[in-house]
Order: sequence, then structure tokens, then C-alpha cells
Amino acid sequence: MDSSSRPTVYIETYGCQMNVSDSELMLGKLAASGYDAVDRPDGADVILVNTCAIRDHAEQRVIGRLGELRRFMGPHTVVGVTGCMAQRLGPQLLDKAKHVSLVIGPDGYRALPTLVEGARRGERAIATTFDLEEHYEDFAPRRFDRVKAWIPVQRGCDYKCTYCIVPTTRGPERSRRLAEVVREAHEVVADGMSEIVLLGQTVNSYDDGTHDFADLLRAVGAVPGVRRVRFTSPHPNDFSDRVVAAMAEVPSVCEHVHLPMQSGSTRILKRMLRRYTREGYFDCVARLRAAIPGLALTTDVIVGFPGETDEDFEETLSAVRELAFEDAFTFKFSPRDGTPATRMPASETVADEVASERLARLIDTVRTASRARNLRLLGSRHEVLVEKVARRGQELLQTRTRDFKTVLVPGDESMLGRYLTVELTGTTGSTFTGAVVRERQPLPMAG
Ligand code: 5AD
Ligand code: SF4
Repeated sequence: MDSSSRPTVYIETYGCQMNVSDSELMLGKLAASGYDAVDRPDGADVILVNTCAIRDHAEQRVIGRLGELRRFMGPHTVVGVTGCMAQRLGPQLLDKAKHVSLVIGPDGYRALPTLVEGARRGERAIATTFDLEEHYEDFAPRRFDRVKAWIPVQRGCDYKCTYCIVPTTRGPERSRRLAEVVREAHEVVADGMSEIVLLGQTVNSYDDGTHDFADLLRAVGAVPGVRRVRFTSPHPNDFSDRVVAAMAEVPSVCEHVHLPMQSGSTRILKRMLRRYTREGYFDCVARLRAAIPGLALTTDVIVGFPGETDEDFEETLSAVRELAFEDAFTFKFSPRDGTPATRMPASETVADEVASERLARLIDTVRTASRARNLRLLGSRHEVLVEKVARRGQELLQTRTRDFKTVLVPGDESMLGRYLTVELTGTTGSTFTGAVVRERQPLPMAG
């Protein structure tokens, strides 16, 4: 315990980058209200668990963790559950977990200081109303990462993919005003960061009423000191010609797109309500690759969606082979209560053993292809940004190329945030080791 009498808050984050960004906003808000952030739960006055509801597995982890956190609680500790699972389960969480006193959904963080104060006096509260105006503009995020800045540009989702809980947990889509995003970009540069990751559930459908995603990329790319711009996750249907042109023309926009495919079978895509066909997805990839030389693609794929036959799955495998993804996040379909996929006939359920076997084959296909590609890259040189210390005590840094490859290089903490030129010297199949060829000239600091 330090000598200050400020109360302390500990936050643990599950799920996607949007959740990480929300945790940064929550900590910022609580810091402004007199709380000190701590990085361990023991002794914290307030423990927040910012949760994900995307698959059952994500929720089970949180439930297990909530049980464990009991042992860090003193008589006055407040435990709050925030995020997507809080939104989805609401009162059920208060009923089931008696040590939890706050349940706050993604649009409820403005009331956090008031709700936490109430909870410290013994009250229990739920805040799960959507607020279509809410972007937390006046919050100063307390960022976890010192090298790259997550900037949310859109909240919620208007697609209604039949497997997905997100429209239920995060509500309708809304975009921040471009000027606010640009203001935040200036702030992160002033804080010494040079990489920005724009966040949204379907980020390229960004529309603030006046500006589209192409305008946003150009405006953020024009902020002095911004050297790398990334975004996640786009939807294939929202890559207009304007957006693709902006990606190609703005030098800081990196040559990497994470483009969720979900399935390679038009029949399954239709049942998922993805609103594109196999050919439509291939066409989108072709347009991106034609405009952006050296573009690296990663994707998300779900196996075992209701009604997926062996033939459908073979189409997913062939799409993965033909499109040569750099990497893929692969998931077994997990039914989420209330989503349309749970209302499909029981006879269409894919048996778990079948889904597991497909998942294993899919992972093998992705890995075999990326290992072969990565071996061919040995000896080539790349600009990397030093992101973090990879393994403490081993003087090894994790760095990233513009096209999102991970390269481990020797070095120490003082090199965080610097740009280097490295030569790739080895690969484990997915990540690389590299040797520093030279350190790039630091850019003059703007701001
Ligand atoms: N089951 C399995 N995977 C899912 N995803 C989203 N919903 C589900 C679900 N019900 C996957 C999708 C999405 C990624 C974030 O999680 O592939 O792109
Ligand atoms: Fe999980 Fe989706 Fe919520 Fe992110 S938006 S925390 S992935 S459910």
C-alpha cells in the first residue's frame, strides 16, 4: 500500500481490441474521478472484469475467473462486470454471482464513477441501456500500450450475421465525428506514439453523416507524426472504390487487411447472412490486391455452422488455399442464445466430433501454407516497429512489419517505439527471428 489515500481500481479485459479500448476509457474515467489504476487484483478497492460474449468458451472463462477473484476480495471490495457479457446477461449475473455488485454494458461507462461510489456504499446496480449518442468523447483514455494507440471510430453493429451476438451486446452502429478522431490522433502523437489502429465492428462502413471511411483514412494519415495506420475489422461489402483508393494512396496505411471470410461456401455464407458470395469475397480480395502491392491478408473462419456439409467445408479449405491467407483465426461455431442460428432445425447441427475434425484440418491447411511462404521470405529485409519486450530477461523484442508479421530481434526496453530495418534470419512457421540491419532515423516529433 502506498501512502496516498486514493482508492485503487484493477481491470481485467477479455475479448477484442474494442474491449481493450473500452477498458482504457473506463480507467481514464475512474482516474479522473480520483482512482489509481493498479495492475494486480490483491488489495484493489474496485475490481472490474470487462467481458466478451462472442463464444460460450469466452463466457466460461469469465465465470471461472469471477470465482477466483473472490479470494482477492476484502470486506469492502467492489466487483463489477462490464462489457458484452454484462449486457447479455444483465440481472442474471447479479443473481448468480452474489459477490458482484455492478453489471454495466458497453454504453454505460459514463455512469461508472457514480455506480462505483454507490457500490462502495453497498448498493448493487445494472446499467445496460444503449445510448446511440455515446462515444465517450470527453474521456481521456488511460492507454495500456505505449507504442500503438487503439482509436475507436465506430460503436455497435448494423449487420445481423445469424451466428453473432454482437448486435445484441453492442447495439446499433454509430460513428464518431471525423474531427474527434483526428483530435485524438494528434493527442496520441503528442504522447509519443506513431501507430494508430482504427477500431469498429465493421470499421469500413464508418459514416459520420458527412465523411466516409476513405475520408477518415486520409485525414488520420495526414496527421503529422502518424507513421502507421491500421484498422480492424472491415466487412467485405464496405470496401468501396473510394476506400480502396485511399488505402492505396495514403502512405501510412499499412499493407495488411484482416478480412473475416467466415466460410468459403456461398450456401453457408447465405445462411450466415454475410451478404456476399464466395465469388464476391474473392472479388473483394482481388480488388484489394490489385490496388495495394504486397498486401497481406488474414481472416476469421467458422467451422461447423448449422447445415455445413463436407462439400461446404471443402469449399472453405479450397478458399483458404487459393486466397493464400497469411494467417487465420479459426473457430468452432458456438450457438449464442437469441441469435437466428439457434433457431435453425436441430437436424442441421454439426456434431462436435465433426466440427473438431474440420477445425484441425483447417488449422493444418493454414499453417502448412504460411510455413512454406514464410520460409521463402528468409533473407529479406523489412521495416519493423518495436512493440514490446518479448520475453523478460532474454533481451528479446517483439517487432512488427508493416504487413503484420511478427519478428523477434535482440534488444532492450529502451528501443520500444523505434523503427528498425531487420533481415529475417529464421522462422518457427508463424513468427520470425531477425537481425537488426540498421536503426531508422527517428522522425522529428510533432505536436
Ligand atoms: N461462434 C463461433 N465463432 C464466432 N465468431 C463470431 N460469432 C461466433 C460464434 N457464434 C467469430 C467470427 C468473428 C470472430 C470475431 O469470432 O469469426 O469474425
Ligand atoms: Fe467479444 Fe464481440 Fe464484445 Fe468484442 S464485441 S468483446 S469480440 S462479443
